[in-house]
Amino acid sequence: MRVGAHIRRVLLGFSLALVASCGASTEQKLYVIKFPHVTAPATPKGQTAERFKQLAEERFPGRVSVEVYPSAQLMEDSESLEALAFGEIQMVATSLSLFDRLTKKFQVFDLPFLFPDMASVERFQQAPAGRELLDALTEHGMLGLGFWHNGMKQLSGPRPLVHPADAAGLKFRVMESDILQAQIEAVGGSPQKMAFGEVYQALQTGTVDAQENTWSNIYSSKFYEVQPYVTETNHGYIGYFVAVNKPFWESLPPDLRAGLEETMAEVTAWGNARAEAINVEGKRKIAESGKSQIITLTPEQLAEWQGAMLPVWEQFRASIGAELIDAALASSR
Ligand code: LMR
Repeated sequence: MRVGAHIRRVLLGFSLALVASCGASTEQKLYVIKFPHVTAPATPKGQTAERFKQLAEERFPGRVSVEVYPSAQLMEDSESLEALAFGEIQMVATSLSLFDRLTKKFQVFDLPFLFPDMASVERFQQAPAGRELLDALTEHGMLGLGFWHNGMKQLSGPRPLVHPADAAGLKFRVMESDILQAQIEAVGGSPQKMAFGEVYQALQTGTVDAQENTWSNIYSSKFYEVQPYVTETNHGYIGYFVAVNKPFWESLPPDLRAGLEETMAEVTAWGNARAEAINVEGKRKIAESGKSQIITLTPEQLAEWQGAMLPVWEQFRASIGAELIDAALASSR
């Protein structure tokens, strides 16, 4: 009897432990968020992605693992949008310019000279019309969690780009976006769509002559080493749509999902507040390098670039939607 009772107790204890461990393993399920992006770790996006990883893992130990892959080491942007839609990765922070196959609405961010500065972009993204854009890709299986800033774009090239005519005949690398293609055509350049990870080599070997990007990207990806001139035009904005795979996100336990969304809101504010300083720092380092000369335009010269690029607005007004453009303009003072 005693032996039998002992065996029963042992068996019961064993099965209780089994139940406990099963229960624990359900509760402790580890959700892996693969998050590839294309810029260097020191950029606004690189730093904000790392911050999200750090805070998310700290707040939900053993429940979430955020795998950040910077510098296009896992994949380029266009592949990442497909991978996100198929659930092969769970999160992206991809340049707004690259979504034009999925929605024309984000093209509002690429209208040349629409936003005079980052504060205007921020106001628009916080306004109702901007917030609505977070839902623009839901039907494609992507939920928008926020917009991350990089900064304003500058033009770099093999010769000083002072007047629009100086761009004539130059091959410009642009992101895979029709509006950016039209913008380069408007100044007489020849646009070449190309993935970010290929740009340095293309500039170095002369596959392309020129490009447009933010100070932080020009610095951290070393474009300034192979581009002797950078013109400060601030003609456009680079920012990111932070999106997650919808079925994956909806499969998260409610407390985890809410906590990660809160963490994302917090790191978005943190990163967006730092982005401008990182770009200022990139500009300073480029100037100090002596490898690239920074050209500052007079107001008259800047007006020439604005005038030359303005026809792009008419070309894209209908597809973007006049109301959305007006909402963006209302935030631009
Ligand atoms: C580019 O392709 O030039 C940028 O979108 C890269 C980035 O993510 O900032």
